Amino acid sequence: MSARSSQSHTSTPSNILEQVRQCAASVTRYPLDILTEHAQLEDDLGIDSVKLAEIAAVIAREFHLPPDRLPRNGKARTLGAIAGAVTEALGTVPVPAVPVAVPAVVEALQAPDLLPRVRAVFARVTRYPEELLTPHADLEDELGIDSVKQAEVMAVLAKELGLGEAPKFSQRLRTMAAIAEAAGTLLPAAPPVVEARPRAPVHAAPAPVVPRAELPFAGKVALVTGSGKGIGRVIATRLARAGATVVVNSFHSREDGEKTARDIVDAGGKAVHLWGSVAQEEHLERMFTVIRDELGGLDLLVCNASNGLIGPFDRIAPRDWDKAFRTCITGTYECAMRARPLMAARGGGSIVTMSTSMSQRYMHDLGCQGVVKAGVESLTRYLAAELAPDGIRTNCVSAGPVHGELLGMFPDAPERVARWESATPGGRLCTADDVADVTELLLGPKTQRVNGAIWVVDAGLSGTVDGLLPAARAS
Ligand SMILES: NC(=O)c1ccc[n+]([C@@H]2O[C@H](COP(=O)([O-])OP(=O)(O)OC[C@H]3O[C@@H](n4cnc5c(N)ncnc54)[C@H](OP(=O)(O)O)[C@@H]3O)[C@@H](O)[C@H]2O)c1
Repeated sequence: MSARSSQSHTSTPSNILEQVRQCAASVTRYPLDILTEHAQLEDDLGIDSVKLAEIAAVIAREFHLPPDRLPRNGKARTLGAIAGAVTEALGTVPVPAVPVAVPAVVEALQAPDLLPRVRAVFARVTRYPEELLTPHADLEDELGIDSVKQAEVMAVLAKELGLGEAPKFSQRLRTMAAIAEAAGTLLPAAPPVVEARPRAPVHAAPAPVVPRAELPFAGKVALVTGSGKGIGRVIATRLARAGATVVVNSFHSREDGEKTARDIVDAGGKAVHLWGSVAQEEHLERMFTVIRDELGGLDLLVCNASNGLIGPFDRIAPRDWDKAFRTCITGTYECAMRARPLMAARGGGSIVTMSTSMSQRYMHDLGCQGVVKAGVESLTRYLAAELAPDGIRTNCVSAGPVHGELLGMFPDAPERVARWESATPGGRLCTADDVADVTELLLGPKTQRVNGAIWVVDAGLSGTVDGLLPAARAS
């Protein structure tokens, strides 16, 4: 029963608080007794701004309130404060039982069908399942829709709403709700009707599994996170070539993930693509459900997905640390723990995590990744110990700079790469294939007794003293 149906004009602050607590419990899955009125959401309960936005959306839906009536981020420090805001909003928001005449522009602003239209356009352009496109999800952080894709969506949306060119808004709009609201202000009167669109499938249909017994990973199922491009793509392709059915995963770069899976299948291998963020529980829940129900389980896991700002410390904001931690640490942990029962049911498995050898050294501009990857190495040792009773080995490949997209993100990349190369004992940096060689070895049967190991693959760079400081200081 929704709050609206259970609530009446006699709603009291105390039963509103109860409903707010229930909403928070349903989102966080925390036991109700710790969700007290005065507990600090972030400090006491560890509810970050992303989770808080989710809770606010559920509460708004529950009480049929416009979401902007609820305090978010720093303003909502306790559930008591949120309940207070709900109480206040319920006192001032008119129940829409009696139609009220409103001027055309206000009508447009309140147009009830604009948000569904915005979502439908997002779903069509991004091909995301609509249920994931929640109105208040942060487009970039939670849905992985980068600014280029957003511009594409805005162009289509502008056309559908008859706005001519994609409008330029004075501030960056981070959610679909914000876009719907801003677009509403631009609509002249009655907006054009948009047809309902069919929902895109969540993932490609799995290819039939035909094990080729002579290959080392024949009959094995492997998940490689973040494998649409870069090193992950190379690893996924190599595992498929070695006979595994590979689950290719991508998040921000959906097309790359789909293409990698397609390329593997075109080359005679077996692969499916699953879209989703390793930093978000509900995405992982969907991915692992597919792996369990449609592929029958998991044998090999490569936690390759990574996110960490490249730049000096004075450019790294708390949000960047949070993103790096959630992707590299929480994401690796969540994947490993979800893989555990699936691997145990098949008599064991093997996990490889991905670090950088600069987690143990200083490399200019790599602080965010270096620090978080040191955590990945530690997590690897803990997983190795805790999962060993289930026959699961966990090892880490700690790579040095590898030619590819990531290196291109460093300022003065060509100059730096030349300096790193000259500081590398053999004069050449590693390649993605070098990293894949070691990953394959650690995953496979030849390293049965290797567990909790951190194998450095950086052509010896981290053993030298040159090349890691900025040019001005190094010379
Ligand atoms: N390249 C190097 O020089 C180097 C050196 C040392 C260590 N490493 C490590 O090697 C691994 C691969 O590196 P790389 O350079 O190929 O790529 P990268 O730029 O570090 O990114 C890795 C992958 O992570 C994915 N990703 C980011 N956020 C994600 C999320 N929330 N959920 C799922 N996937 C996500 C990206 O795909 P989407 O765009 O689809 O999200 C991308 O494919 C990383 O762990 C990296 O730290 C790389």
